Amino acid sequence: MKKLNVFLLTVMMLPLMSFAQSTMPLSIPEITLNNGLKMPVLGFGTLSLEGSVGENSVAEAISLGYRLLDTATVYGNEEAVGKGIKKSGIDRKELFITTKLWVADSGYEGTKKAFETSLKKLGVDYIDLYLIHRPRGDVKGSWKAMEELYEAGKIKAIGVSNFDTKQLKELLSYAKVKPAVNQIEAHPFFQQNEAQADLRKMNIQMEAWSPFAGGRNGVFDNPILAAIGKKYNKTNAQVVLRWIIQRGIVTIPRTADKGYMQENLDVFDFELNKTDLKQIASLDLNITQFPEWE
Ligand SMILES: NC(=O)c1ccc[n+]([C@@H]2O[C@H](COP(=O)([O-])OP(=O)(O)OC[C@H]3O[C@@H](n4cnc5c(N)ncnc54)[C@H](OP(=O)(O)O)[C@@H]3O)[C@@H](O)[C@H]2O)c1
Repeated sequence: MKKLNVFLLTVMMLPLMSFAQSTMPLSIPEITLNNGLKMPVLGFGTLSLEGSVGENSVAEAISLGYRLLDTATVYGNEEAVGKGIKKSGIDRKELFITTKLWVADSGYEGTKKAFETSLKKLGVDYIDLYLIHRPRGDVKGSWKAMEELYEAGKIKAIGVSNFDTKQLKELLSYAKVKPAVNQIEAHPFFQQNEAQADLRKMNIQMEAWSPFAGGRNGVFDNPILAAIGKKYNKTNAQVVLRWIIQRGIVTIPRTADKGYMQENLDVFDFELNKTDLKQIASLDLNITQFPEWE
């Protein structure tokens, strides 16, 4: 509770910093993970941003102020992300890089090998956050390998993605290092309130993937979000991101469009009130919008 209050206070104080008018890239607020590592609350998703589009999008996102980059072995774009990082000219230490272990590489040996491949492709010598992408395969063996890489300082935090509470509890039964993050689908149509409450109890940070439901279900034209946005002169996308961040959740919207990148960063100078939150709660269908990935 105390941690959440500090988080909310930081987010609420941001308008005072008036970076929105500044030409300097903005500085994104951070949360502190259960191992003390700081993580930006808003990052840049890279699913399907491949080749030169991936490279240029990543470089542009960094130039605008994004510091958290989210990729995965299975996206097939770690090299493009790595090239984008180089192109940006930023000091690697300024970045928070997440990549993920794919199911086909699960198990102790497979994980060690896949991790080294990811490092090479990204052109870095450590990863900030390494996640088990899906709760399938030899999770126990993978976790042991990740714990060793973490202890060796090659990963700053380890976590999971797409785990439900039961799967997390099983992992916790043998884990020496507790997962720092669970990255799961979360957006207005699948709000994940129960999962969030469970993660809070376990002191594991929730991170929302597909904050816009990948553009499905008419999210950018939704009249309830539009009416809320109108009050603050914000778009549906900005209302959604603000709502996720105000819940204390980290998120990683993806776009190849520079205007959208900028727009998605501009969410720290307004605050949704109780009525807004109640209206957004009414959009919950409490079901995945990606049944094909189940
Ligand atoms: N762990 C997992 O299993 C998992 C699964 C899925 C995703 N992820 C991560 O989460 C990230 C985000 O999810 P996502 O890529 O599925 O989708 P998303 O971020 O929910 O939505 C992306 C779509 O929204 C559009 N968009 C972005 N900003 C906009 C704005 N301000 N106004 C209007 N349209 C906007 C993009 O348009 P343009 O195409 O025009 O740019 C794109 O079509 C991924 O990139 C990936 O890093 C993780």
